[in-house]
Amino acid sequence: MESLYSSIKNDMSCKVSGKDLLPAKNGEEPTMQFLLEVVEILTNYVKKTFDRSTKVLDFHHPHQLLEGMEGFNLELSEQPESLEQILVDCRDTLKYGVRTGHPRFFNQLSTGLDIVGLAGEWLTSTANTNMFTYEIAPVFVLMEQLTLKKMREIVGWPDGEGDGIFSPGGAISNMYSVMIARYKFFPEVKTKGMTAAPRLILFTSEHSHYSIKKASAALGLGTENLILLKTDERGRVIPADLEAKVIEAKQKGSVPLFVNATAGTTVYGAFDPINEIADICEKYNIWLHVDVRKLSSLIKLANSVTWNPHKMMGVPLQCSAILVRERGLLQGCNSMCAGYLFQPDKQYDVTYDTGDKAIQCGRHVDIFKFWLMWKAKGTVGFEQHIDKCLDLSAYLYNKIKNREGYEMVFDGEHTNVCFWYFPPSLRSIPNGEESRERLHKVAPKIKAMMMESGTTMVGYQPQGEKVNFFRMVISNPAATMSDIDFLIEEIERLGQDL
Ligand SMILES: Cc1ncc(COP(=O)(O)O)c(C=O)c1O
Repeated sequence: MESLYSSIKNDMSCKVSGKDLLPAKNGEEPTMQFLLEVVEILTNYVKKTFDRSTKVLDFHHPHQLLEGMEGFNLELSEQPESLEQILVDCRDTLKYGVRTGHPRFFNQLSTGLDIVGLAGEWLTSTANTNMFTYEIAPVFVLMEQLTLKKMREIVGWPDGEGDGIFSPGGAISNMYSVMIARYKFFPEVKTKGMTAAPRLILFTSEHSHYSIKKASAALGLGTENLILLKTDERGRVIPADLEAKVIEAKQKGSVPLFVNATAGTTVYGAFDPINEIADICEKYNIWLHVDVRKLSSLIKLANSVTWNPHKMMGVPLQCSAILVRERGLLQGCNSMCAGYLFQPDKQYDVTYDTGDKAIQCGRHVDIFKFWLMWKAKGTVGFEQHIDKCLDLSAYLYNKIKNREGYEMVFDGEHTNVCFWYFPPSLRSIPNGEESRERLHKVAPKIKAMMMESGTTMVGYQPQGEKVNFFRMVISNPAATMSDIDFLIEEIERLGQDL
């Protein structure tokens, strides 16, 4: 029997183009053929992603991709291309990309390829609707409301009370938190601008994500009014430093507005002492936001919470929520009541037109894949996934902590494992400027070789005075102990002659 693939290839090679697809007359047949072919490309990619003999990436420099690869050219064309070429473009776009679901991809926290989540994303694109009104997204809007309530219950707010909205990522969710805090204490800023407020001060750890700084710039508070807090050796905020800096700001006539605490910082995976920070916030009447990577029972102390299912929970990008303990602030802060979209006299309960709470107008449907995954796994499934990732982090930590050639950036188990690798040539050099300089170059060199050979990917960075080190964050559900072993072998293989 002729395979589906070859019959379609034959048909597609007869110069069928996009204009022959639906809604063209007699477009059903070519549309079905085209979509089945696309699905075959996608499912082949999915299969290979989990096959450890497949490379994580087939690296090319920007100029190589821009110059064009055989049969694959990024230039846009004046005339329609054949569907055969379009299929090649689909296949090659995946070919030259990075398999972020590969069991040996550890580069980012957003990793993994959850099959149900993927199906959810496909369905979402097929529905191609917009989250702003119940009118055009009735099912998705209800799913979002229900899921947000469930998330607030898990955070620990009584009866899941409060508010929230899905946003395009953790950075934007963090920005929402600053906006809402400002609206809570100085609502007139919405209409009169920053002249309606005194000099407002934000506080966050020197280890926190840069999005808090970006928010202070974007919202007109100014990066100089964001005060960085000192941390201990594990990267946790020192509460006494917060209190001292709050008092200092007040003495200077400024108003401390907002503190961001992080539950799992980007590089170290550190947990700020939320309990003590919450006490200080209560004492000085300051908004407490918690940027969460890993949940804990203390998060309920926050006024607002950033929760990113596209990180530790493995939901396909993008999926992030801002949760707010006090209901009404999101709406009050952001609503503009556009009469052509949020008509108050619609035929249904317009409180479900939640779009005016957002800073966006059109909003992508990020909820469905998350909701569907939650259905498929249950809450327990997510918990098991996170536990497995933490077990793997512990496995890595224990494997390298006493291994020759390794030094940990900090002791103790964490969600992140940060370490230096000393190639044999560096091990005999005494500690000093020369060894620091050479060590600083090791991680970028090994990373470059990893990418060239396409075998695995892991992140690295400096931190403060510390020279470049590797940072492992494990959230990939496909990873096993053998992949951790492989990573270590690969670092040693690539680094032995440096
Ligand atoms: C602690 C923390 N907050 C916020 C962000 C930003 O999230 P996103 O990339 O979803 O905007 C990150 C990203 O790594 C993060 O680690």
